[in-house]
Amino acid sequence: MDNVILLENIRKTFRSPMLRIKRTAISDLSLGVRENSIFGLLGPNGAGKTTTLKVILGLVSPDSGTGNVLGKPLGSKSTRARIGFLPEQPYFYGFMTAEKAMMFYGHLAGLDTETIRNRSEKLLSLVGLPIGSHLTLEKYSKGMLQRFGIAQALLNDPDLVIMDEPSSGLDPVGQKEIREIIISLKERGKTVFLSSHQLSEVESVCDSVSIINSGRAVAQGQLDDLLEVKGVSLVTFTGESERAQKVFSPLARKVHTENGKTHVEVDADKVYEIITSGKELGLYLQTVGPFRKTLEDLFMEIVRGQEI
Ligand SMILES: Nc1ncnc2c1ncn2[C@@H]1O[C@H](COP(=O)(O)OP(=O)(O)OP(=O)(O)O)[C@@H](O)[C@H]1O
Ligand SMILES: [Mg+2]
Repeated sequence: MDNVILLENIRKTFRSPMLRIKRTAISDLSLGVRENSIFGLLGPNGAGKTTTLKVILGLVSPDSGTGNVLGKPLGSKSTRARIGFLPEQPYFYGFMTAEKAMMFYGHLAGLDTETIRNRSEKLLSLVGLPIGSHLTLEKYSKGMLQRFGIAQALLNDPDLVIMDEPSSGLDPVGQKEIREIIISLKERGKTVFLSSHQLSEVESVCDSVSIINSGRAVAQGQLDDLLEVKGVSLVTFTGESERAQKVFSPLARKVHTENGKTHVEVDADKVYEIITSGKELGLYLQTVGPFRKTLEDLFMEIVRGQEI
């Protein structure tokens, strides 16, 4: 099976009962998520990310369009046992300890006590929560609750893990740990679908992305293809020169110096001239490669219509 998730021309509108107006949350959205990959859904607030996740989970039925998840049509109950879900604002019973809550959710998922006990210990340590603590969930910090939510989402050993803003509320160390967990899920053969506002997180973990704005996909594909700027190279030299701007500027698209290195963005056919000029300036050639913009550049370019 190639695509674990396939959405074709999905449209979802919500009707406001008071105002009798329709609000379009997603329109004509199509996407494919390959098995054993990490897919990121990006977009500004209100773009339709959570609604898309709910359509995939079968919690919201689309007005039109088709799709399938793990080989079954959208909304099939039999796929639910193979999906792990971390909601945007997870809610748990506050009076339970982490272990009690894992037991509760595990039993709901139809797992036996022994399996839950084994998995729960491994998962709580995977997300960095204490084992055997008497602290109840109501006393957890936001970051601890988010970690618990991730452990809970993995309890049924799902093939597909769906996460709505997994790093929400976490400090930088916590965010890095979550990235490592997401990558380790892929290494264990799972497929991960996440929504995020953290562009650097998406750039460092995702294989493919879809950027949505006002419910429509405005860019999607493999991250490498989206970020590579065709026909433009990046030449990096070790060393700095006061004359670098003056010498490189007539040939280059952009020149900048940072931490003892000089970076030159240049059209591929002018790379040789840049290397020669760099030598004349006394700089040492370090690397020559395709120029990649950052995901933040791409996002701003698309969502704010800003040119970089
Ligand atoms: N149950 C609902 N009833 C009415 N409107 C809804 C409902 N769910 C979502 N919407 C509307 O659909 C649009 C998309 O919402 P959604 O929650 O999918 O966005 P999002 O991209 O997840 O935003 P955020 O980044 O803020 O989480 C918004 O305009 C929202 O108000
Ligand atoms: Mg959302």
